[in-house]
Amino acid sequence: MNTASTPLPGGTWNLGDLPVTRFGYGAMQLAGPGVMGPPADQDEALAVLREAVELGITHIDTSDAYGPRITNQLIHKALHPYPDALRIVTKVGATRDAQGAWPPARRPEDLRRAVRDNLESLGVDALDVVNLRLGDATGPQPEPLAEAFGTLVELQREGLIRHLGVSNATAQQVAEAQAIAPIVCVQNMYNLAHRYDDDLIDRLAAQGIAYVPFFPLGGFSPLQSSALSAVAARLEATPMAVALAWLLQRSANILLIPGTSSVAHLRQNAAGAGLALSSEDLAELDQIGR
Ligand SMILES: NC(=O)c1ccc[n+]([C@@H]2O[C@H](COP(=O)([O-])OP(=O)(O)OC[C@H]3O[C@@H](n4cnc5c(N)ncnc54)[C@H](OP(=O)(O)O)[C@@H]3O)[C@@H](O)[C@H]2O)c1
Repeated sequence: MNTASTPLPGGTWNLGDLPVTRFGYGAMQLAGPGVMGPPADQDEALAVLREAVELGITHIDTSDAYGPRITNQLIHKALHPYPDALRIVTKVGATRDAQGAWPPARRPEDLRRAVRDNLESLGVDALDVVNLRLGDATGPQPEPLAEAFGTLVELQREGLIRHLGVSNATAQQVAEAQAIAPIVCVQNMYNLAHRYDDDLIDRLAAQGIAYVPFFPLGGFSPLQSSALSAVAARLEATPMAVALAWLLQRSANILLIPGTSSVAHLRQNAAGAGLALSSEDLAELDQIGR
């Protein structure tokens, strides 16, 4: 239950008919190093998830490929039975091999198995939102998606998935998916220093579809930039808070899923992301992604 006295920055957004806080939480880095195996400190990992809910967060991003299974098991252990308002967004389309790589798994039988595995590890009868992860570790690839996305549409009709999205997708693939069935979100890499999706974000905003940047803080190597540090110092804020505030101000359809394995960082990020950036701040930060 949300006992937070301060509202989360950014307000809410609707993923289809499911309202979520724009300030969410990304659970990937709760797993062990390289997103493999259990966390170094399981108690802290469980505490982070419980704190997310205490702060009022209603959007958690995950995948059964994280760990694999570990992240979903942690979410289940920390939060099940889930609060009514909590939405857990998962993704399918890649698996893990013994070396920790992310080989694609997008044949119909792979996707059916992955949806079943997510249902089981999260302990739910239907998944709120499932993203089809496309491309590979190097980024989006111009591959066809009709068969894979069509399989998820079948699973949606079977009542196992409420809403669909795509991830690691080109603008062309987003359009291809939309020609098959409605999507509620696109999850791609985007942050202050990586802004290749600017046009896509604006197009999705016009359609009322969420854009959910992964690696909002830079991912495994958090963002470092002299302009970011200068703005943060001037505002007496952390660079991470400025990076998140910039995303919230960038477009109303951007939902945040910053990751952290630390309760202290989670609180810091939730408190800091509401920072108001002036046009001077924005102009200075704009130089980073150019
Ligand atoms: N669709 C896809 O293909 C895909 C790919 C990657 C990720 N994702 C999703 O995107 C989510 C976010 O990505 P991410 O977690 O990898 O990257 P991120 O949110 O950009 O950054 C997380 C990193 O920032 C650090 N951090 C967070 N708050 C901090 C603070 N206040 N001060 C200093 N360091 C801080 C974290 O370290 P600490 O743990 O020490 O705080 C962690 O190393 C993931 O959880 C996952 O759900 C999706």
